[in-house]
Amino acid sequence: MVKLRLKNRNVKKRCHIYAMLRAQGKHLSFHTPGHKQPGYDVTELSYTDNLSAPTGCIAKAQADIAEVLGAKQSFILTDGSTSGVLAMLHAYVLAGYQSLAIPDFAHKSVKNGCKLCHIAPVFYTAEDLSAPQTVLEKADGLLIVSPDYYGRIPNLQQLENACKNANKPLLCDGAHGGHLKGNAKLYAGFFADMWVDGVHKSLPALTQGAVVSAKTEFWAEYLRESVDIFRTSSPSYPVMASVEYAVKYPPNPRLEDAVFAVAKTNDRVIVNDDWTKFLFKGGKRAYEIKQALERRGIFAEFCDGDLLLFYLSPATTNGQFSALCRALKKVGKQYPYERIERIPAPEFVAVDGDMENIPLAQALGRVCAKDCGLFPPCVTLIARGERITQEKIRVLQNADGTFGLTDGKITVCKADAEE
Ligand SMILES: Cc1ncc(COP(=O)(O)O)c(C=O)c1O
Repeated sequence: MVKLRLKNRNVKKRCHIYAMLRAQGKHLSFHTPGHKQPGYDVTELSYTDNLSAPTGCIAKAQADIAEVLGAKQSFILTDGSTSGVLAMLHAYVLAGYQSLAIPDFAHKSVKNGCKLCHIAPVFYTAEDLSAPQTVLEKADGLLIVSPDYYGRIPNLQQLENACKNANKPLLCDGAHGGHLKGNAKLYAGFFADMWVDGVHKSLPALTQGAVVSAKTEFWAEYLRESVDIFRTSSPSYPVMASVEYAVKYPPNPRLEDAVFAVAKTNDRVIVNDDWTKFLFKGGKRAYEIKQALERRGIFAEFCDGDLLLFYLSPATTNGQFSALCRALKKVGKQYPYERIERIPAPEFVAVDGDMENIPLAQALGRVCAKDCGLFPPCVTLIARGERITQEKIRVLQNADGTFGLTDGKITVCKADAEE
């Protein structure tokens, strides 16, 4: 029996898709999905509405979501922020734009989306954003990631002003920012023309639940057409219901205050602009700390070889947060902080000729031929053309998940070894 457990009664009462699922009567399934179990995992039927042409509970849910997020139109996604990013980039091209300034730390969905939609990416660094006019001179529009995986948020007002002055669109990958809805200073949706909210990451939605939104009818029209291309034609009803619930979920100021209070008193804790990204300085002992916590049943979102990220949400209970703090106190004492020396800036060389896949242990000094990194956060750690260092090999060897490797091997230039 496929059910959905939504805890907050007040929110649940206001959810149209959930109400439709709850009201199901006797139901013998001679339709997909093939598991044939009764419950909420249904398909498009006479009473369930249809995400690709909604007129009933899904239309009402999307209208409510747009209102909460300050959008002209919002589209529920059941295929993660990835599909929202792709749709947003496709809409950008439909509107006639060709090049786009994107951060060098953009998620792979942004980089892949540019390739797929034939957008010329113009890379900028986080520091470059302090002079957005200069970044904007080189591209037709600007895409920002806000917040990023480390909870950093750029100056959104300054970016909106710069884009408006240059008459260029502002897009936002807000895969980590859905919980900031309503925050006049920090929610990117108040500043962007189109944006994605990955509600499954920082709000209580099921995995893959997300939303993509447009500020005006101009962008909504292109986005509607694009969403239709990149969204599945078999969206999950439990995921859709959970997206509506998550967007309507209230903030948790008590927890937020508790997080900032801990960050003030514990010098191994870093909380940047976004309280849901709780960072612990592991230093040289980062992996040992991660393992020690896992033995206690505490799992971090990721460890980048230095920092551990503990991802919170408004649905994190105060009890859960206190348990994390107690464990960090104990484990932190066991593994005192030893700072990692600053990693020197990478050396880049031209990439050409044949490539080969080699074990990480043999890659020191070779030239990387294909972007790779940790998964999550799916941000490039070693870029194509970069000479591979011991420190970065160590990070990849210790990672739980990676991207860009083939059977654990890294792709390097062959010519480089023959020199
Ligand atoms: C910044 C950023 N954008 C987009 C995505 C893609 O999100 P999803 O996994 O929901 O497709 C991620 C995923 O980690 C991300 O970190």
